[in-house]
Amino acid sequence: MEATKLHYKKPSLQGTITVPGDKSVSHRSVMFGAIAEGTTTVEGFLLGEDCLSTIDCFRKLGVQIDVDGTNVTITSNGIDAWQEPTEVLYTGNSGTTTRLMLGLLAGTKLHTVMTGDASIAKRPMRRVADPLRLMGAHITGRENGQYTPVAIQGKELTAIDYTMPVASAQVKSAILLAGLRAQGTTVVRESEVSRDHTERMLRQFGAQVDVEDGVVSFAGGQKLTATHVKVPGDISSAAFFLVAGAITKDSHIVLKNVGINPTRDGIISVLAEMGANMTLKVEDELAAEPTAEVTIQSSELKGITIEGALIPRLIDEIPIIALLATQAQGTTVIKNAEELKVKETDRITAVVTELKKLGANIEATDDGMIIHGPTVLHGAALQSYGDHRIGMMAAIAALITEGEVVLDDAECIAVSYPTFFEHVETLSQK
Ligand code: S3P
Repeated sequence: MEATKLHYKKPSLQGTITVPGDKSVSHRSVMFGAIAEGTTTVEGFLLGEDCLSTIDCFRKLGVQIDVDGTNVTITSNGIDAWQEPTEVLYTGNSGTTTRLMLGLLAGTKLHTVMTGDASIAKRPMRRVADPLRLMGAHITGRENGQYTPVAIQGKELTAIDYTMPVASAQVKSAILLAGLRAQGTTVVRESEVSRDHTERMLRQFGAQVDVEDGVVSFAGGQKLTATHVKVPGDISSAAFFLVAGAITKDSHIVLKNVGINPTRDGIISVLAEMGANMTLKVEDELAAEPTAEVTIQSSELKGITIEGALIPRLIDEIPIIALLATQAQGTTVIKNAEELKVKETDRITAVVTELKKLGANIEATDDGMIIHGPTVLHGAALQSYGDHRIGMMAAIAALITEGEVVLDDAECIAVSYPTFFEHVETLSQK
């Protein structure tokens, strides 16, 4: 893999981009389309590698999926018509594919084996396998089902009432998807609410899901009806340019189609609290997943504390928030974010190590990091650790460094944002 030289000569950013489809919603659109009988159409699908892994897995289960640009059509005879795959299902770098499919496959009649890349092989699966086992699932894998490759022998399932030990939409979703096939009403209790795309999409496909005070109840045996899904732009992708607009000089950029689901919009709250020069114009308030046009300009920022219930609302944005904090006046403290250690890489270590190489004043803590700003960043050779969000953090940092950033494995950015560098180009051309 060749290293990529990023020498942007401190551009000011101008112009408009339309943010590509949301990764979480794109995955789910294929999964739900494969469960429902009939033809589901999806617009604005994210053609990132993770979502293509999901498509590939469902094709191996015999589901017909046609991709035409960002329009995807899923034609299925329902979950009972899925075929036992002759091959291992390969989930690539995608935790969402691996964990949600564990839940989905647990209640089928099929035997399946799933594996992913070197990063997936290190990510914990027991957080999903354990509650699924309580429902009657038969799952095996390395270290008692903790790590891939995992094998699932589909079984009849019984609903559970489960209190979540960590805030994780992947765990919640896997349980709810298994609950679709289970006898009885599945209940998931969250002390901190994680992204609710599964609950929203279940409703879109005609199911009834009740949510009250962090308790999700979902009766098994419900039929899903094929429908049309409009995927919002991914706020986690938009976040890189929201930060870029705020920290570069004389910038003024407009991001269209930004998903503003309230369980995902923590980055907007953080930018507002730090004093960013930002405005939101809601585009589609009544959609299953609302969107807005967000305008951001160069900003004078101040350090803040980010903790508690805010963390699940911005968990994927913490690498780029750390870069943002290096440009803010004062101290930013990020707490209660230990989940970062089990993402595509250990993101506490990766962020702190890489930003330090640029001269940032940042230290790791057990559950987050502390950043003192503002600091002038200089060039350096950086590593992405094969993690798309660390790669994009490094590339956005290169917009403000005094000198060149050389980034290894920038290709990993295609996992969630294949047009990322095109968008950097568009916005940095005067
Ligand atoms: C996701 C949930 C989050 C997030 C991931 C996508 C999802 O993971 O980090 O990028 O689509 O449900 P956790 O459930 O592990 O918090």
